[in-house]
Amino acid sequence: MLTDFYGNQLTTSTGLARDSYDIGLRAFLSANYGAQEAFSQAIEADPNFILAYLGVARALMSSGQIADAKTALGKARNLLEGTTDREKSHFLCCELLLSGEAKKARMAVQNHVSEWPRDAMIAQMSTSVFGLIGFSGEIGRENDLLEYTAKLLPEYGEDWWMMSMHAISLCETGQTLKSMQLMEKALNLNPRNANAAHFFAHILYEENEVSAGRDYLAAWMPNYDRRSLLHGHLSWHQALWALYDGDESAMWEIVDASVSNEKGSSLPINALTDTASIYYRAELAGYNVSAERWLKLSKYAAEKFPTMGQSFVDIHAALAHAMAGNEEYLSKLIEGNSGFAGDIVPAVAKAWGAISENKWDKAKEELETASSEFERFGGSRAQRDLLEFTYVNVLLRTGNKANAQKILLERRPVFYEKAPIEAISGS
Ligand SMILES: [Fe+2]
Repeated sequence: MLTDFYGNQLTTSTGLARDSYDIGLRAFLSANYGAQEAFSQAIEADPNFILAYLGVARALMSSGQIADAKTALGKARNLLEGTTDREKSHFLCCELLLSGEAKKARMAVQNHVSEWPRDAMIAQMSTSVFGLIGFSGEIGRENDLLEYTAKLLPEYGEDWWMMSMHAISLCETGQTLKSMQLMEKALNLNPRNANAAHFFAHILYEENEVSAGRDYLAAWMPNYDRRSLLHGHLSWHQALWALYDGDESAMWEIVDASVSNEKGSSLPINALTDTASIYYRAELAGYNVSAERWLKLSKYAAEKFPTMGQSFVDIHAALAHAMAGNEEYLSKLIEGNSGFAGDIVPAVAKAWGAISENKWDKAKEELETASSEFERFGGSRAQRDLLEFTYVNVLLRTGNKANAQKILLERRPVFYEKAPIEAISGS
């Protein structure tokens, strides 16, 4: 029996199928374009190779092609007989993930990795900030993620992927020095791992190293295929640093070329959340964002996410709808309660509505309720700064400067002196 890159046995005896699978696996784990093509080549080499179909399904899922992913999963289902227990369990995890059964999927992944820790395609499902733990909606999910990767790390030895995943967990629990040391090791082993480059950028963000961050991504990005998963989001990081640097024209150039849905290649979840985030962070910093931009974004949000359910998306959609005056869609998010943090989305949605009308006291009231649970919305700390800085801005505008400073000091001390909020210097 052949084995994959991580030493897991595969139900195929075709060397070319295995080799193509490994190429797909590495492309997938490093967030580089080409995973789907490589997994498809593995199927061509061996049409009975179940994990290649599941690889295709995962690659399609991660590029937002859910119907096609389900077709690939269906083909895998027909090949279950005669496969190993690991492959059967691998299938189950993919099936649960694809059917949106997040809690069951997380449990299945946990069971799977306790038996087959080096099945990286499955271990991956619960890693990083957009995974099953990141989007659990639970308080303490950042520590849960750290615990999860800490347990897996020793199973992987000198492996670029696992090191980068644990470094992400360290970064998001405030351990930036340890994170940087491990991420540098991971990047030395595979400099083109976009997940590592991404969170290397996060480490620099957490240290508020604006010039170093801009230089780092300016050097890294030109060789990153625009069709790859993180191209748009890494561009958001570049735009954000341009904003922090007061380089408004560079910010808009990057947003329009690579972050927003119009010319960028991001999945809808990133196109919407990153664009809404940079627009409002630009407003916080004192830049003007046109009504037309907000209208277009609200329209895009309504088209791609017509119903409530993905809380991280929902708080960003609510922002776009509020700023565009789209009452119909904003009210859905104010009145609803679905999704992993669906109980606290309405407070944030109401706050955005109040902010759009300059009703700062009302916004303060709503954000106070949700502020102790912002972690539950998912995403990275850098992404969550949209909410942190908005809350600080609301406090400043309601005459609570001392409280605003206290909040920054307690929650985002690195930005205490330099938060990119115009009202700080004016108040
Ligand atoms: Fe990021």
